[in-house]
Amino acid sequence: MKIDITKAASFVKADAIEALKPQVKAAQEALEQGTCAGNDFLGWMHLPSSITPEFIAELNATAKVLQDNCEAVVVAGIGGSYLGARMVIDALSNTFGWLKPSKMPRILFAGNNIGEDYLSEMIDYLKGVKFGVINISKSGTTTETAITFRLLKKMCEDQRGKEEAKKVIVAITDAKKGAARTTADKEGYKSFIIPDNVGGRFSVLTPVGLLPIAVAGFDIAALVKGAQDMEKQCDLNAPCEENPAAIYAAIRNAIYQSGKKIEIMANYQPKLHNLGEWWKQLYGESEGKDGKGIFPASVDLTTDLHSMGQWIQDGERTIFETVISVEKPNTTLAVPSDEENLDGLNFLAGKRIDEVNKMAELGTQLAHVDGGVPNIKISIEKLDEYNIGQLIYFFEKGCGISGLILGVNPFNQPGVEAYKKNMFALLNKPGYEAESKAIQERLK
Ligand code: PA5
Repeated sequence: MKIDITKAASFVKADAIEALKPQVKAAQEALEQGTCAGNDFLGWMHLPSSITPEFIAELNATAKVLQDNCEAVVVAGIGGSYLGARMVIDALSNTFGWLKPSKMPRILFAGNNIGEDYLSEMIDYLKGVKFGVINISKSGTTTETAITFRLLKKMCEDQRGKEEAKKVIVAITDAKKGAARTTADKEGYKSFIIPDNVGGRFSVLTPVGLLPIAVAGFDIAALVKGAQDMEKQCDLNAPCEENPAAIYAAIRNAIYQSGKKIEIMANYQPKLHNLGEWWKQLYGESEGKDGKGIFPASVDLTTDLHSMGQWIQDGERTIFETVISVEKPNTTLAVPSDEENLDGLNFLAGKRIDEVNKMAELGTQLAHVDGGVPNIKISIEKLDEYNIGQLIYFFEKGCGISGLILGVNPFNQPGVEAYKKNMFALLNKPGYEAESKAIQERLK
């Protein structure tokens, strides 16, 4: 993985990065020594290097049970309890994977919304399919996930009988607390623990991400190896210039301080759409608080050059761009030549599709820089487990450092509670009587 900030650094004062270095170092030290705000949620810091081959084997063994017994596996979870798995599985899957015969179960994601049509249609689909469930919730009480799990548990038991259903339902939750733990223990489900000191959005390298990724048939050992190598590269003692997470944290804060408040993550591979979704949660939930924070947005290019491209090129100059560039595709396809050349495309004949994509990427970078958009480029060699593992740890460490430079607690999410309180009051949840009364008054 490489980071190139040359097309961003020219937008900030000559000494801006240098001036931030002491803060970068202080943030790294605070993370390492556990002296920063949110220091009870630093379990992600040395998580990759703490994962043992035995633990990977246990995850793979559980994955095999689901693979052997299910045509589909529903991952029920929301926020940090699904975005990481979805990002990795999408990045590594054959785009049209489920149209081809595959030994691996199809992975479905639910519990991340309360759409009645979404759930009804999923249930209709599952009627003819042998399915299992991975129920993921750290708190074990999240409404979206809990409603979905209630539906799926009943359906799975109806389909297979209670005893057989137990073999294909796995819980990933707190060691002791929450309804998901109570249910798992009472029913005797295989379960994995989400460590107390790892927050949801930093949990992709716990069973939260690793189990669904393994069930989908991907090499979680290689994913973890990528993260382990990046953990070493982002070590406190590495010089700032050689620490990609420190460089990223420094440049995005320098740009933010120069007045640009929106960071757009751009990819040129449709398979990376959900990298943008995962990254938005990681950075948005970690930094958007106390009236501060870069707003994380994302686009899929070249697709969105035909929509948001106009805004990026010419709209209000409050944005900067972070491009994820994949150096080599995993397949080979060239533009065919055509005798008649009716479409005028013979100038591309014989060229790899990826070469056209790369020229679009370079052309866009030059245009956006000309248009006043600072450009950070993050390159990985190819889309595989190892490289995605590197990206995961890089973005996590960059987020921790960046949030501390910004001056917030990057590891809490107090703002997420506001909607829940109102929703529970409106639904007359026991314990919310006073809030129910107040909200009814307000709605009169
Ligand atoms: O990052 C976070 O902590 C949140 O996004 C959670 O992951 C999300 O709210 C889901 O919570 P839980 O796993 O408790 O169901």
